[in-house]
Amino acid sequence: MSGPVLEIRGLRVAFPGPRRSLRGARTVVQAVNGVDLDIGARETLALVGESGSGKSTVARCVLGLVRPQEGTITYEGRPLGPIDKRPAELQRAVQMVFQDPGSSLNPRMTVAAIIREAWKVHPAVAPEGDRRQALAQVLADVGLDAGLADRRPSALSGGQRQRVSIARALALQPRLLVCDEAVSALDVSVQSQILRLLVDLQRTHDLSILFITHDLAVVRQIADRVAVMRTGELVESASAEQLFTAPAHPYTQQLLGAAHDLEGTGATSQATRGAGSGE
Ligand SMILES: Nc1ncnc2c1ncn2[C@@H]1O[C@H](COP(=O)(O)OP(=O)(O)O)[C@@H](O)[C@H]1O
Ligand SMILES: [Mg+2]
Repeated sequence: MSGPVLEIRGLRVAFPGPRRSLRGARTVVQAVNGVDLDIGARETLALVGESGSGKSTVARCVLGLVRPQEGTITYEGRPLGPIDKRPAELQRAVQMVFQDPGSSLNPRMTVAAIIREAWKVHPAVAPEGDRRQALAQVLADVGLDAGLADRRPSALSGGQRQRVSIARALALQPRLLVCDEAVSALDVSVQSQILRLLVDLQRTHDLSILFITHDLAVVRQIADRVAVMRTGELVESASAEQLFTAPAHPYTQQLLGAAHDLEGTGATSQATRGAGSGE
């Protein structure tokens, strides 16, 4: 058997915090405090935990946007350093799907231009002559009508924008997708469509996915394994099935209990934002 695709060992990240007093020394926020994680080939690992628990900081380390004080991150055994020091092939292999495509997609560019831009940075992925075909293919892969290629993000729905964001990542033929709260801003029904798309893409494109969310309810639909984070540390890691049926840690039980209560009253955060509107 081959080893994990992504291997995180002893990850520690501290940020300067607020000063205790006007002339006092700065405090330190230990955002990530000794995290170990593995993601296998074609595996979806959900990293869950409340806001501020350090999930995005882990993601930013994997993407090479934050430099950890301690620890190692390897991709197929090769160290994943800061993004500007990564070989092109590793830059391409690890792609990000953003939380809020509304602000991460350039409002002045069309869908086609947004996707083609990825190939300017990594031209070898889609040779010039093949790009029309490659564009049509990637739009089809994410379930976007070819007729939308000339639209700008403002002329798309939230769900369609998230599909563009996924298409942009997919255009680079990644091996690992990092999705940080990628469905958190969407209505429940649209959330579910995007989750289904990610599950399909994971199979058809042999992807590994690091799926980050504060919302345990969305994890059921997508995760093979779940790791629960709290104040910079992992408290539990288990198969999704095991975690949902027999959570071992009191904190996980508490998170699950909270998710159940919200489902029971129909008052999940997304539902209150107005579901059922389609994309
Ligand atoms: N760039 C930064 N500078 C200072 N503190 C930060 C920075 N990024 C994150 N933090 C702090 O680190 C902790 C973890 O944040 P984050 O990783 O964003 O958590 P999550 O994604 O789980 O909500 C929080 O206390 C946050 O305020
Ligand atoms: Mg976050």
